[in-house]
Amino acid sequence: MFTSKTVGLSLAITFATFVYAAESPNLGTLASAAEIAAYDLTVMPDGTGLPVGSGSVAQGVRLYTEQCLACHGTEGEGGLNDRLAGGHGSLATPAPVKTIGSFWPYATTLFDYIRRAMPYTEPGSLSSDEIYSLTAYLLYINGVVDDEAVMDARVLPEVVMPNGDNFVWAYEP
Ligand code: HEC
Repeated sequence: MFTSKTVGLSLAITFATFVYAAESPNLGTLASAAEIAAYDLTVMPDGTGLPVGSGSVAQGVRLYTEQCLACHGTEGEGGLNDRLAGGHGSLATPAPVKTIGSFWPYATTLFDYIRRAMPYTEPGSLSSDEIYSLTAYLLYINGVVDDEAVMDARVLPEVVMPNGDNFVWAYEP
């Protein structure tokens, strides 16, 4: 037999269960610090987000030859895929060639892009030192740094890209 007391109690339990369910649907598991770090890849133009580590042009040549040349050609001249070097001064011509050196506004984007996306068939496989080395090499073949250059979180944001001044903020207040 239901009394008003038991109805009240069961309603209270139902409500409590509902509130609990709303707070915790019990789906999925908490992401671990390592899982979050694997997705925390953004490098800002000013270098925020760059990890510790470093790499030289000399180390980059070797890595590029092993892991990038097949798709991007000798010294980034292009092949199966995008050309990565050259094209300087071509943007205002009828046949613009957009490369890292002729087009990209920030050197730091190179680190972000390679870490997130390259090599195409195995993104995420390169260490921070390897990515700094490849970044140094790609800047070198674009004539942006010399062959002695060593990139790290302090030096890379200071690299001035040839086309950097030709970008404007679209959403200036
Ligand atoms: C299997 C072929 C392949 C390999 C190997 C490869 N890439 Fe790529 N790469 C691509 C493709 C395809 C794109 C264009 C991707 C897109 O536009 O979405 C690209 C784009 C790029 C870009 C951007 C070019 C631009 O101006 O937009 C960079 C930088 C780059 N790759 C660097 C590298 C580096 C460094 C390596 C070696 C660690 C590498 N790639 C290895 C296929 C490859």
